Amino acid sequence: MTEVSAKRGAFPQRRGGATPGGMSRDVRLEGLLARVSPSLAGLTPYTVPPVPPRIKLDANESPWSLTGEARALIAERLAALDLHRYPDGRAEAVRQALAERLGARPDELVMGVGSDEPIAILLSTFSAPEGGRPPAVLFPGPSFVMYRLGALVRGLRPVEVPLRDDFTLDADVLDAALAHERPALAFWATPNNPTGNSFDAATLRALVEAHPTTLHVVDEAYGPFQRERPEDAPLTLAGWMDELPQVATLGTLSKIGFAGARFGWARLRPELAYEMEKVRQPFNLDAMAQALAHLVLTDLKDLLEAQLRSIVRERETLEAGLDTLGIERFPSRANFVLLRTPLDAAELHRRLLDREVAVRVFKDPRLARCARVTVGTPDENAAALTALEAALRA
Ligand SMILES: Cc1ncc(COP(=O)(O)O)c(C=O)c1O
Repeated sequence: MTEVSAKRGAFPQRRGGATPGGMSRDVRLEGLLARVSPSLAGLTPYTVPPVPPRIKLDANESPWSLTGEARALIAERLAALDLHRYPDGRAEAVRQALAERLGARPDELVMGVGSDEPIAILLSTFSAPEGGRPPAVLFPGPSFVMYRLGALVRGLRPVEVPLRDDFTLDADVLDAALAHERPALAFWATPNNPTGNSFDAATLRALVEAHPTTLHVVDEAYGPFQRERPEDAPLTLAGWMDELPQVATLGTLSKIGFAGARFGWARLRPELAYEMEKVRQPFNLDAMAQALAHLVLTDLKDLLEAQLRSIVRERETLEAGLDTLGIERFPSRANFVLLRTPLDAAELHRRLLDREVAVRVFKDPRLARCARVTVGTPDENAAALTALEAALRA
């Protein structure tokens, strides 16, 4: 990078000298870097690989692209937008459609850019100090990384409570941690990422009822796949909100075919949603995202349901294929399967990439030999199974 030349003026120019290692440094830059929030120290930006492989099963996306008809409909709606105007700051049309779909009140919804943004807004909103220090944010682990990262960047205290070896909730340990930490927020991803299992509803309900001063955020990003059979209605814990004001839910379009649209939501009591609305950027959802989300929730909903069913069906096929190969796997209620092999995860990842298949592996020692494989199309799943078999034999 070339050094920016500073205009000579009233202020003394302080140029960088050479560091002991010989690398030139710029004291102005260093001064600015010293102003970065200390909570960012030790963190690295979230990155994704630049070139997608041929068979992309690493990001829990839907494998199905849109039909020509759906594309034409989207093109027509987007072309009709008045892009010289700001979008609707309350996103009323999509709010109504989403409320109808969820059986929610419109003012219970805080919508955002994916569900990552509602998670960030929750963390910024429920951040009152507790006992003279930043509040705790509790979640079982391993789970979705953004709970920890989002808490850390805001100077909050992430508290991860280990899941049992089979990735189920450890009720006693969680109960003690909730009592001790009195967290402002607890995140419960069910089905959980990256383990794929749903948490036992009775265990979770007892914890939620016993700790009503924590806002319990039930993250149902993978909720639409939570079905015994493809044609079943998906299970949801949203009904708990009727009796329990300490319950919020999260949802997203990302896993069901629209990861590129970036649309998600939090649902919680209107009094609490109102506080979150103070944090939300007024135009966080652009006009295109709003139009697209509205279409997904209305005209395209039958197409989406058909795709969801096929993913649940394919999950069964993928699981059966893994069983046939004798590969250890964990039970899944999501659109991915976590498996465990005798190989180190990084090595398995490399061997699969050599065969043009991308899966997700993790640095967490509890997942040292695990890989998360997203459910793909029938062809992709067959190719992934062939690649797995070969990689484990190599
Ligand atoms: C459990 C869980 N919640 C939320 C998200 C956020 O997804 P998005 O911002 O795409 O809605 C993810 C993404 O992987 C996830 O796994």
